[in-house]
Amino acid sequence: MPPDNTRGYDIELKRGNDCIAVQVKSHRAKCNVAQIRKFQNFLELPLASRFNQGWFVSASGYSKPSLTNVNAEQPDNLSLVTFQGISQIIWDYNPPSNIPIQTIAAAYEPPKESSKTKYIGVFTCKGGVGKTTVAAHLAGAFALMGHDVILLDLDPDRNLRKLFLQDIEDENGDASIFVPAINRNELGTTITVLNADQWKEEDYSDVKVIICDCSPVLSENSQSLVEKFDYCVIPTTLNPLGVSKHGDVIIRTFKHIRQRNPQAEMFALINNYISNQNLVRRNRALFDHLNRSLGEYTSIDPKCKLIHPDAAKIRHSIALLYWGYHIVAGTEPQLAFRESGGRSFPRTDFLQLAEYLEEHTTIDELRSSGL
Ligand SMILES: Nc1ncnc2c1ncn2[C@@H]1O[C@H](COP(=O)(O)OP(=O)(O)OP(=O)(O)O)[C@@H](O)[C@H]1O
Ligand SMILES: [Mg+2]
Repeated sequence: MPPDNTRGYDIELKRGNDCIAVQVKSHRAKCNVAQIRKFQNFLELPLASRFNQGWFVSASGYSKPSLTNVNAEQPDNLSLVTFQGISQIIWDYNPPSNIPIQTIAAAYEPPKESSKTKYIGVFTCKGGVGKTTVAAHLAGAFALMGHDVILLDLDPDRNLRKLFLQDIEDENGDASIFVPAINRNELGTTITVLNADQWKEEDYSDVKVIICDCSPVLSENSQSLVEKFDYCVIPTTLNPLGVSKHGDVIIRTFKHIRQRNPQAEMFALINNYISNQNLVRRNRALFDHLNRSLGEYTSIDPKCKLIHPDAAKIRHSIALLYWGYHIVAGTEPQLAFRESGGRSFPRTDFLQLAEYLEEHTTIDELRSSGL
């Protein structure tokens, strides 16, 4: 057992030259992207350098996005295990060097079909804070999780469709990308981008996730689609110069949507988050300030909230800043999920956001089925 007050792992295993840090989670909920990320970060710390492997053990398995992310990154020092008694041990992920790929594929849980089509709007009254970026990459995250996704471009500027056009000269042509499955044994998925007037739900009966990129001017967005939003994601930032104004903008956004849509759950999301140890205190103070400024409204409309960055956020990244460069380079449309050093911050962040929204989906579905 580790010395008292040691954080990061629960058991140390030694065998021959192997030294393994074991983290055990006995939660009832499945382990998620953030929990695994935290353990991976621990393994990279100098104080963990004696460990050549880390085993993450869950009593309840793993969320779909967390398995998707780990299968995409293929870390070579991490194993994921589900332990439900000595006769029920499942190795959900093992480093590629350790185990044949079939074993990993067998443990991979294919995504379950959700019964109802979910509409997710990405909207805020403010321009240029990342609506289009968030809409496109949230679609990418759902696609990585095995869903076909429709992205609807509600903005008359048509920025989003332009970014996905297969032939940049043909404005009315095919705007879509294929997202290959991370797991070799699975089919890939698609993201199709349509204008609001091209959308007919009955034409795409197998598509369960519809993401709408909105214009910051609410009246420019299709009223009938705004009425359908189950969720509305509201990107915002934590920069100090704007933080008081951002509170007003978010409240105005909550009110605008609520006037047209009584059911939507609304989530303000921190975008462009700078993740840096030296900024932890300042980020916390800025978040608290922003959260307080929303309190008066969120107390009367509990379906509106600001997502805590520990639960989901989108970090500032060069990959997202330069996303769209393919238009200038004349290359194929792509998302900013390309890896560097086996990792992609945008991919991890958007999978975590998708997971956050999926958890709410599950809660809703359980509620409506009376459980
Ligand atoms: N997390 C991030 N890291 C780095 N750059 C980002 C991030 N999010 C957005 N950006 C950049 O910010 C700019 C504005 O983003 P985007 O076009 O998505 O905003 P928007 O809200 O859709 O704007 P508009 O109101 O004009 O439709 C883009 O250049 C984008 O690359
Ligand atoms: Mg936009």
